[in-house]
Amino acid sequence: MTFDFARFPALDGFPRAGLHHGPTPLVPAPRLGEALGIPRLLLKRDDVHPLGVGGNKLRKLDFHLGAALAEGVDTVITFGALQTNHGRQTAAACARLGLRCELVLTAAVPRSGEAYERSGNIPLDLLFGAGVHICATAEDAVAKHEELVADAAADGREVRSIPVGGSDPLGVLGYVDATRELALQLAELGVEQARIVGPHASGATAAGLALGTASLGSLDLDIACVSHPLDEATANLASLVGGAAQLLGLDLPKLDHVWMNDTTIGEGYGIPASGTWAALRLFGETEGVVLDPVYTGKAAAALVEWAAAGRYSRDETVVFVHTGGLPGLFGYAPEFMAAVRK
Ligand SMILES: Cc1ncc(COP(=O)(O)O)c(C=O)c1O
Repeated sequence: MTFDFARFPALDGFPRAGLHHGPTPLVPAPRLGEALGIPRLLLKRDDVHPLGVGGNKLRKLDFHLGAALAEGVDTVITFGALQTNHGRQTAAACARLGLRCELVLTAAVPRSGEAYERSGNIPLDLLFGAGVHICATAEDAVAKHEELVADAAADGREVRSIPVGGSDPLGVLGYVDATRELALQLAELGVEQARIVGPHASGATAAGLALGTASLGSLDLDIACVSHPLDEATANLASLVGGAAQLLGLDLPKLDHVWMNDTTIGEGYGIPASGTWAALRLFGETEGVVLDPVYTGKAAAALVEWAAAGRYSRDETVVFVHTGGLPGLFGYAPEFMAAVRK
């Protein structure tokens, strides 16, 4: 068995913004693989991209902003936590496309202080020219969004609002496309079967991988919940996969090849656990690769835990999807320093 590219859904009917420039690197991680007992470990480096410090949101934004450009939109509004990577990438993409960007951010994570409130992604949002609106509660964020939409209408501007994390059925297509890209890279290496490991937060990354792998076959998917507990994440994944399948005119796929767990979520979204920092150190010390403490650090902690539990066989190819988040690490500068200080 190998990948069934003939069955893969066509995505050319959807306008794209042209943010994505060819495949992101797929690189071997031999020293990390040796430490984990996974000799054939590869990293899919979606953190490496020339725009806005990179990350997984650019793939979703390619579709969201493609639709915005096709509709003649000039103002984009989106949402997130204070240290949202999605907001920073939206700001960068809007700068590149000449669109106005408004970020409605909610202080949703129990973190404060100079690093969290004034470093990391926040100055980058400003650098890329976004309007940054910080709200204390979800209700305030709804009211701010309404105000921004009303202001735009009064100015005669056309708005597109993108949901948290870019996660709706259209955003899922970004990672459907990524799955094909990854399978082509694997095929080029002579790999006919593999297991992908990645994170779930707002869900479109995992949903796109789930739908893409369902179409291609020969790929299994292990998903680490980093934001929502397993029951909520499972329902969210099913709903996004269903919505994207409908958008693509596909039958609802079986997801027997997808396994999810929330064992490394710790106390919750945005709160790093000790295993998170241990995973950051391991990736840094073995491969010189930097993770973040909110998303990739928790997904990597899951990879470490699942490998130790014997989930991966020595002859299996495992691909860890590095989804970015580097700037967010500096929002946690004091904890980061404490975690790496000898
Ligand atoms: C660096 C990083 N990794 C992973 C994710 C999770 O992706 P998704 O929201 O599509 O589940 C995010 C989302 O915010 C992110 O910023």
